[in-house]
Amino acid sequence: MSRVLVLNGPNLGRLGSREPDVYGDQDLSALRVLLIEQAGPAVEIDLRQTDDEAELIRWLHEAVDTASPVILNPAAFTHYSYALRDAAALVTKAGIPLVEVHISNPHAREEFRHSSVISGVATGVIAGFGFDSYLLALRVVAPVG
Ligand code: DQA
Repeated sequence: MSRVLVLNGPNLGRLGSREPDVYGDQDLSALRVLLIEQAGPAVEIDLRQTDDEAELIRWLHEAVDTASPVILNPAAFTHYSYALRDAAALVTKAGIPLVEVHISNPHAREEFRHSSVISGVATGVIAGFGFDSYLLALRVVAPVG
């Protein structure tokens, strides 16, 4: 069985109640169900969330060590964490796909959200489609059929 790491950064543990006008009213456990449904029995979905930059970096190191593809929503770290960027680069430079995802479209929001320090080392970026951003990313890293 192959495994996909679905890693979520700060404040995404509050999905469901956090700014529902921007992020919708579903939480991460609803997202996990949707991903598991799409993945089917051959792919394990390992969905995690942390508010801690160091923990997120450790999980990216784990992705390298276990050659696990990554779907990453870096949340606010997107916009300033060079340490997370360096960890994401370790993943893609090892030839392992890493897709940066966002629920909202950061480019249609405040100026500080318009730049991502992660995108330049990601395999690709999907933003603005709600939880479908993750489902589209899963199609890329774990194609069905
Ligand atoms: C986000 C967008 C970021 O700008 C923001 O800090 C988040 C969520 C998104 O999924 O739309 O926490 O990554």
